[in-house]
Amino acid sequence: MAVAPATTKYSITMRLLHWLIAILILGMIVSGWYMHGLPDEEPLKEELYGLHKSFGITLLPLVIIRLLARFSSPIPELPAQMSWWEKVLSKLTHFLLYLLMFAIPLSGIIMMDYLGIFPLEWFGVFTMPDLIPDDMDMFEQLEEVHEILAYSLLALIILHFVGALKHRFLDKGKDTDVLKRII
Ligand code: HEM
Ligand code: HEM
Repeated sequence: MAVAPATTKYSITMRLLHWLIAILILGMIVSGWYMHGLPDEEPLKEELYGLHKSFGITLLPLVIIRLLARFSSPIPELPAQMSWWEKVLSKLTHFLLYLLMFAIPLSGIIMMDYLGIFPLEWFGVFTMPDLIPDDMDMFEQLEEVHEILAYSLLALIILHFVGALKHRFLDKGKDTDVLKRII
């Protein structure tokens, strides 16, 4: 019986979702950082908060779809020429990226539910249900958690980005260019 050749590229669904979610996440970090620093009387502030929350809510089902796609499509093996520690670091980084992509929007939604002052709307189309009793202390703690997780995600993305560039440009004489598998 013929054995199917191992895949050398992520599926088209995985590649599209990788770049769509990458752009959205980077936009979320920049918008979060920028809107937080705006003065309260700035009219743009309220608009940006609304967009940040709506895009953030959108990310949750997108990440779930991505995880389903990951488990239902073949994933290319890491190149054999990569050292063991590069393989471990790469897998650990990917796991943490998935964890944070899930935990950050969730922390945002739960913190807004604790605040309870503004209805949590999705692009003005529907209002998320208010499920948890309001609690200002919990809101403030989750605000802190949301911030710490978001900037930890940024640090991981930088590591991920530097790793991809290293394999493409610095690993001379090795076939470890993982970028071509996701483009
Ligand atoms: C992957 C998704 C998300 C990312 C990467 C993200 C990132 C950020 C960042 C970097 C900040 C600025 C933190 C600071 O400097 O204090 C922030 C603030 C904020 N985020 Fe998100 N966020 C996400 C999803 C959400 C969601 C789903 C909601 C609510 C539904 C939300 C609500 C907020 C609010 C209300 C603030 C302002 C907090 C303040 O002004 O103290 N975020 N976010
Ligand atoms: C900034 C530009 C980015 C570049 C150059 C890049 C590059 C790559 C490359 C080359 C891979 C494939 C690794 C492999 O073949 O094993 C990959 C996978 C991955 N990337 Fe990115 N990436 C970027 C941004 C992001 C962002 C913003 C996120 C999410 C926060 C992200 C999350 C992931 C995850 C979770 C995987 C693992 C896919 C899997 O095996 O399930 N990437 N990325």
